[in-house]
Order: sequence, then C-alpha cells, then structure tokens
Amino acid sequence: MRDPEPPLAGGMIDAARRPPGRVEMMYSAAEISARVGALAADIAETLGPDILVVAVLKGGFVFTADLLRALHHHGVHPRIDFMTLSSYGTGMESSGQVTITRDITDDVRRAKILLIDDILESGRTLAFARELLRERGAEMVHLCVLLDKREKRKTEINADYVGFTIGDEFVVGYGLDYAHYYRELPYIGIIATD
Ligand code: IMP
Ligand code: MG
Repeated sequence: MRDPEPPLAGGMIDAARRPPGRVEMMYSAAEISARVGALAADIAETLGPDILVVAVLKGGFVFTADLLRALHHHGVHPRIDFMTLSSYGTGMESSGQVTITRDITDDVRRAKILLIDDILESGRTLAFARELLRERGAEMVHLCVLLDKREKRKTEINADYVGFTIGDEFVVGYGLDYAHYYRELPYIGIIATD
C-alpha cells in the first residue's frame, strides 16, 4: 500500500487548499439545463443559424459549452472564439477596470455575434467587450448571460437573453468562482456566511 502524504512541517493542515465556506444550492443542474434549452430556442429563432459565438472566460465556459450543444438541436452551427477578460481580482467586488488577458483570433467583420458570459453585474465587462466587437466591424452583437444581477448595474446595458435574474448575492458554480474555487460545481449556489 502507498504511504499517506507526509504531514506538513509542524503537523499543520494546508487550509489554503480547501474551498472556502459552504455552498447552498440556488439553481440545480436540472433547472439550469431546462433554462439553457429555452434560451437556445429563443436565440435560434432571433439570430438564425449562422452566428459567431464569443465566450468570455473564464466564467462563461461552462454555460457556453452547454448552450452551444443546445443550439445545435435548433439547427445553429456557430463559429466559436474566446476572450479572457478580467475586472475582478480574487475577491467579491469588481475593480472597475476591464483588461483583455487573451483576445479572440476570428475575424468579426459583418458577423452576427452572440457574446456570452456567466453573469452581468456592473455591466462593465460586457459593455467593454461589446464596444470592442462593434468597433472591429461586427454587424450586430447580442448579449447572453446565465445570470443577471440587475441591482448592481453601473452602466446602461442589458442582455438580450437572460437565464435567471438574481438579487445582490455572490454566487458560485457552473463556471463562476470565488477565489478560484467552485467553478466545477454542476449547479449554482450561494456561499453561506454562517
Ligand atoms: P461586471 O463587469 O461587473 O458586470 O462583472 C462581470 C464579471 O464579474 C463576471 O464575468 C464574473 O466573472 C464576475 N462576477 C460578478 N458577480 C459574480 C458573482 O456573484 N460570483 C462570481 N463572479 C461574479
Ligand atoms: Mg467573468
């Protein structure tokens, strides 16, 4: 039998490696899946089969992967590209400054773009990305988010397709993180504060 990991110096537990807090479920995997299917139907009807999906990373990757497969069932055959944007740092408040960490490589001129992110909060991230894609010559840019935290908006922006509208709560799972944890949860939850 393999020996267990040697204890850390002084016998201390490496607490930093454990996910912080406890997560209470807000939307189950089944609820999310049903909503994603309905969004795909709506998007296919409005935008048609020939679109360019631009997914905002990191948070948008799970939602985008599920939505793409749902779109397939509605006859949509999108191109797909990714853009990594950051405004957050590791805490629960946005810094306000959006920066591109990784840009898309596809040509967006005359494209019908579906810009996807996990959540719309202040609106700065998607306002920045939409403006950039418009400046580069996109024919249209429609916004799609799984979650909309309307109360926290700091800019004039609304999504064309919204999964769920939520209150001023910090959520994790299904792509969303807290301090790099919880992106892999198949559901959306709130970190309990007790
Ligand atoms: P905005 O620019 O303020 O709209 O923020 C959008 C970005 O902040 C999202 O793409 C998320 O990455 C992150 N974010 C906002 N609210 C939450 C949350 O409740 N949990 C995890 N990440 C969040
Ligand atoms: Mg994000």
